[in-house]
Amino acid sequence: MNQDALAPYYADLARMSFSPGWARPAPSIWPAPQPKFKPAVWRLVAAKAALDQAGDFVPVEQAERRNLIMVNPIEGNTYATTRNIVAAYQMVKAGETARSHRHSPAALRLVVAAKPGTYTVVNGARIDMLPGDVVLTPSWSWHGHVNESDATSYWIDFLDVPFVQHAEAMFFEHHPEGLVTVTSTGPTPMRFPAGDPLGSGKEAKIAEIAKDVLPTFGLHFVRLPASTRADVAKTTTNYVYSPVRGAVRFTAEDGTDETVGPGDVIAMPCWHAHSYQAETDAVIFRVSDEPLLAKLGLTRTQPE
Ligand SMILES: [Fe+2]
Repeated sequence: MNQDALAPYYADLARMSFSPGWARPAPSIWPAPQPKFKPAVWRLVAAKAALDQAGDFVPVEQAERRNLIMVNPIEGNTYATTRNIVAAYQMVKAGETARSHRHSPAALRLVVAAKPGTYTVVNGARIDMLPGDVVLTPSWSWHGHVNESDATSYWIDFLDVPFVQHAEAMFFEHHPEGLVTVTSTGPTPMRFPAGDPLGSGKEAKIAEIAKDVLPTFGLHFVRLPASTRADVAKTTTNYVYSPVRGAVRFTAEDGTDETVGPGDVIAMPCWHAHSYQAETDAVIFRVSDEPLLAKLGLTRTQPE
């Protein structure tokens, strides 16, 4: 039967919201990952300068939104850093507070610059924020930020918002009282001081923190002595790296060759084999979505 004669048939299908599997405009299933996201880098020095400018015109009432989202520069993307993770630089100025709220996406922060007196309040617990610390905000926990120091604080937020958007499981609300009152100040399982999990020593080492606390996130500190290199094969896991100490050169088969330092961020999306080499003794904070993919049976690494 010729195509013209079939036109009414296909029009009928479309009207009934059917799509014929034998005439799809593009395949739905393919033999191996075809990642859309690509390696990309963001620099702390640029973020700080831009946030400092924003401090002049974004009012304190919007302090919790005074951030710069690291948007992977691929066509059509307006938000995500990698497929399931978004990262953003945030600034809270001396004397400011950022209103408490909660949301179904899980979040964590890597503190870049902060003086004593900067803290996050998570469900009433005061969690101090010092450079290199990682602070967790599990799904649906109240959180707000306070900067009682005399200097601007900067940190990097990581959230699983792109995944939660995809799942259409988004919830958000402001705290009715503005800022959650501090009800406890002791040690908290939601704070991981810089590099502590690696212990003393200088050898190459990788240490996981907060295992199973945030179900979507895998969080690791990686210690790499100068000149040592780590190789990562093609995998379905998406990685975002930020050095806490030292300078690290990242290379990937797409031609990426970037040396990043403390506070810089580099995304290595799935199915991009890559390497990173310490140019000086380095500690790197690594964020991934590996636990999320593992729960779904979707972790796969290309065999050598
Ligand atoms: Fe938040």
